[in-house]
Amino acid sequence: MTLHLNINGHLWLAQSPPAERLSTVLRDELGLTGTKIGCHAGDCGACTVLLDGQAACACLVAAGRCEGAEVTTIEGLAVADGTLHRLQQAFAALGAAQCGICTPGMLMSAAALLRRNPQPSQAEVQDALGGVLCRCTGYRKVIEAVLAAADAAPLPNLQPAAGQAVGARVMRLDAPAKVLGREAFAADALPKDFATLGLHLRVIRSPHAHARLKWLDVAAFRRRHPQVQAVITARDVPNNAFAIFAHLRDQPVLADAEVRFAGEAVMLLAGPLQALMDIPFDALPVAYEPMPASSTPEQALAAGAPVVLARYPDNILCRGNLEKGRVDATLAQAPLRVQGEFETRYVEHAYIEPEAGTAELIEALGEPPRIRLWACTQTPYMDRDEVAHVLGWAPEQIHIVPSAIGGGFGGKLDLSVQPLLALAAWLLKRPVRLVYERTESMRSSTKRHPAQMRAALACNAAGELSAFDFSGDFNTGAYASWGPTVANRVPIHACGPYRVPHVRARTRAVLTHDSVAGAFRGFGVPQSTLLGEALMDELAQAAGIDALEFRHLNALRAGDATCTGQVLAASVGLQACLQALRPAWVAGMAAAAAHNTAHTLHKRGIGIACMWYGIGNTVIANPSTMRGALGLNAQGRAELMLYNGAQEIGQGTATVMPQMFADAVGLPLHQVAQVMGDTDATLDAGKSSASRQTFVSGNAARLAGEALRGVLLNALGLNEPATLELHGHELVGRVEGATQRLDLRTVQADAQGNLFSAEGSFNPPTVPLDEHGQGVPYATYAFAAQIAEVEVDTELATVKLLHIHAAHDVGRAIHPTLVEGQIHGGIAQGIGLALMEEYVNGRTDNLHDYLIPTAGDVPPITVHLIEDPEPLGPWGAKGVGEPALVATAPAILAAIRHATGARLNEVPVTPARLHAALKARP
Ligand code: FES
Repeated sequence: MTLHLNINGHLWLAQSPPAERLSTVLRDELGLTGTKIGCHAGDCGACTVLLDGQAACACLVAAGRCEGAEVTTIEGLAVADGTLHRLQQAFAALGAAQCGICTPGMLMSAAALLRRNPQPSQAEVQDALGGVLCRCTGYRKVIEAVLAAADAAPLPNLQPAAGQAVGARVMRLDAPAKVLGREAFAADALPKDFATLGLHLRVIRSPHAHARLKWLDVAAFRRRHPQVQAVITARDVPNNAFAIFAHLRDQPVLADAEVRFAGEAVMLLAGPLQALMDIPFDALPVAYEPMPASSTPEQALAAGAPVVLARYPDNILCRGNLEKGRVDATLAQAPLRVQGEFETRYVEHAYIEPEAGTAELIEALGEPPRIRLWACTQTPYMDRDEVAHVLGWAPEQIHIVPSAIGGGFGGKLDLSVQPLLALAAWLLKRPVRLVYERTESMRSSTKRHPAQMRAALACNAAGELSAFDFSGDFNTGAYASWGPTVANRVPIHACGPYRVPHVRARTRAVLTHDSVAGAFRGFGVPQSTLLGEALMDELAQAAGIDALEFRHLNALRAGDATCTGQVLAASVGLQACLQALRPAWVAGMAAAAAHNTAHTLHKRGIGIACMWYGIGNTVIANPSTMRGALGLNAQGRAELMLYNGAQEIGQGTATVMPQMFADAVGLPLHQVAQVMGDTDATLDAGKSSASRQTFVSGNAARLAGEALRGVLLNALGLNEPATLELHGHELVGRVEGATQRLDLRTVQADAQGNLFSAEGSFNPPTVPLDEHGQGVPYATYAFAAQIAEVEVDTELATVKLLHIHAAHDVGRAIHPTLVEGQIHGGIAQGIGLALMEEYVNGRTDNLHDYLIPTAGDVPPITVHLIEDPEPLGPWGAKGVGEPALVATAPAILAAIRHATGARLNEVPVTPARLHAALKARP
């Protein structure tokens, strides 16, 4: 039966069954991959299309129901002559798309709204976007863009001149592809031979937290399921272990004798997708013998607890330690002292794009075989090296081609589909594809570490901090992942961005039989800041000092030594952040007091929190290398080329690296093209993690640009000061009225087609920590303070956010709109951490039961950008990705405490927990 579908004004004939999801027909049969898939359950809204002008989730609509209806997808939104729709223009101009995976759904929902209501209010926009989840933007710039699209005012369109790209709010370079739905995410593209040769993969995963595996008759299984082309198990894996750190390789690609968390990969099946999905669980050739399991650090540390990994008989993966001064004596003698405990839970990254990818074996006569791997990743080079290790190959035999990435936040710093795809492509010698469903993504991927922490904090009679003592157990789950990084980063940051002469901070990463905890925006610092900032408030109260002024009094400033003994020479903008927030703090205090005198059930409160964050890896090498070049493009025009290995994950490296490179060369941004992270084409710029790319890779881009400028001036026979220009196929240099021209057609190109090229590398200077945690762990730190204003319904125990004010010292905002976008997105994730997000393996592994903030949950945000330049940073820049999140949750909890007096010592603050805390008030 043929379906007749009117899509984007054209008749399409489809052969899929009428009951097939419209989203599947659009994407898999008709190739309209602008409609994205995040959950297949109508929870995320990424697949929103228009059905007769109404927004609808294409994954919930049977294709047969669409006969006779008008279907509009993102591919049909742009007006006929190729001009972007006004909504697309506004999204692109105002930075409303970050990773872009939700953008088609957002645009279609907004289009439906503007069709029925051309002049919506902000509340109506929030309501209309409520069905589309975004994990990156915090929604505020999306709302701003929809309102701007409804307005007739011209949209910004900056074209900075040479040397003026840094600091300019230019349209992000990848914005047109995102708003057109043309970004190819990992599930959007196939190898060229896939239609004829390709196989789909299905991963069989353990339902048990801890169990012994018993292999059944695989041959009999194959006979019963002849469409299954292969059953791949641990015995097929040459080196069955991977990790973040090579010396800790502990996680099997496929479990061998034992599984250690529910969701662990056990077996890989290859074949036609539907045939694989139709195989019932109890037909699989594997059985499980459940064994005792520990799911919390208390259980794992108890006498007789089952050992998770034989290498760690006490279930302690590693410890972190910092000790400075005389902590015990100072605490004992302090006139003012407070102490407390805090507990956090597993938090899921909830990127809207589930993990996906393809792989193909490349064989050429006389050459070693290679695997070409297309997948979503934050770290192409680490993927290359770990996949090569699994196969027992040389790293150069693995070619990683990152797809566009629909959100990462640290979750795509660990391997997921990559080794499975490579293994299958190698064994089967056919192209393979693997796309996780939402539940599989959530069950198998890493999480934020749950933490159990206690601490004491003291000050003298004048309110000056004197001592801090912290200890924390971090549940790192079944395998190492980023556990050592969390255990080491937390002690450095636990005392906060304050002058504290005597500090002790100890951590343990504890192995359990639960989801693997890994990297998630902040590496444990958001957890420890929740406790530290709560104690700061209590101590301020005990000292009789206003909470903001208490922080200002104790804030680190230039010339101070940190708890690791590192002297901060410059770029310590915390006091400036607090000064920027002081007017909002004073006004908010007064407003809350006025409100509360008139209301008994709905109480308002205001809270403040500060944070600091070391930019880049903790002590370990952290280099980035970029290459810049000048060449002739396909049209024969001179063009700069940046080989940019700084992985774009929505944060904007595809824009800020060219901005810095262009200014360093001294040519306009619009004359820069780029090749993004591809391990065959770009150099290693390290991971997109630890808020490091702007600072570290930005310096590499700057240095590459400066080096290339030197090469070009040399070719022209000129010295500084000079200006450079590109005209057609000519490089032109001018010095004091003299002009030199070089016809680039006369220059011999290298193997990459470049006429001139140069590299730049940067590795931030650090000093290893001694046994007491003393040294220089980071070259620079970001600082921030945030204020939350809330209203608490004391009867229903619910919290409504009224406003967030955020002041961030970013050194220099290379692109202010993108910096604001990072801050908005971080705040949204902080709201989730504070109020709603709790991952429970097997119970909240979907976007219906696992709640993340929607457009209606994020209040207005006022951002203050503090630019206290970092001398080592490119144009003074530091980083903002993780700092954006850290202070939000403690500020919200402080505001709840201010509003109600309720003391909360765990997150998320669900209504049940808040109700209990309200009842427990003295
Ligand atoms: Fe919305 Fe990434 S931009 S999910």
